[in-house]
Amino acid sequence: MNSKDSNYDYMFRYIIVGDMGVGKSCLLLQFTENKFRQKHELTIGVEFGGKMIDINNKKIKIQIWDTAGQEAFQAITRSYYKGAIGALLVYDITRKDTFSHITKWLEVVKSYSDKKICIILIGNKIDLENKRQVSKENGENFAKKNGILFLETSAKTAERVNDAFITSAQVILEGIKLTGIDPTFPSQNIKIDEDDEDDIKSKKKCNC
Ligand code: GTP
Ligand code: MG
Repeated sequence: MNSKDSNYDYMFRYIIVGDMGVGKSCLLLQFTENKFRQKHELTIGVEFGGKMIDINNKKIKIQIWDTAGQEAFQAITRSYYKGAIGALLVYDITRKDTFSHITKWLEVVKSYSDKKICIILIGNKIDLENKRQVSKENGENFAKKNGILFLETSAKTAERVNDAFITSAQVILEGIKLTGIDPTFPSQNIKIDEDDEDDIKSKKKCNC
């Protein structure tokens, strides 16, 4: 029996993007390890995480690239967009500027990713309701206007964090069921039988 966690039906690669400090790394940490980090540890370039989920009896491996929000790293992080099938576009509900920059993040994701990428807008830090600067309606309207999904989360309390990943995975899975496998997606997004994390990482390098 293979000890590696290669026993899955699909592998979806996600990217997480958004301004510095909006909580991208904390969302990843909460989703993969059920932990919260109080201190802002600036992401340098890209961090990586993964988790197995179950949807309709299908085992789905979600592989996540958490990108740095800092402008200086943008040239590096953009090379990771290619091949992603899901994107979390994150802003901080307590910082209006992070929401106004979402238009720019959406443009970047659209220009550097596959056209069929499933994008979900995330308003994070809802535990800080008393400091809220962006209403839920603003987020909802932006998402509706741009044809993307929307959720508000707290990486601190874990509220709706799993939903953010699972809802988008459900949509991706539905798309595969309805339309078949899109040939424009690299095969590693659809099914891999034998790879472990290292193999996937080295494949990624080949595709860059
Ligand atoms: P970069 O890597 O620099 O782009 O930032 P990031 O988006 O990865 O932010 P990170 O996850 O490191 O979080 C930044 C700060 O916000 C940290 O101090 C976290 O503790 C805090 N934070 C993240 N999510 C939440 C949340 O949901 N609620 C609260 N209260 N704080 C949060
Ligand atoms: Mg980070």
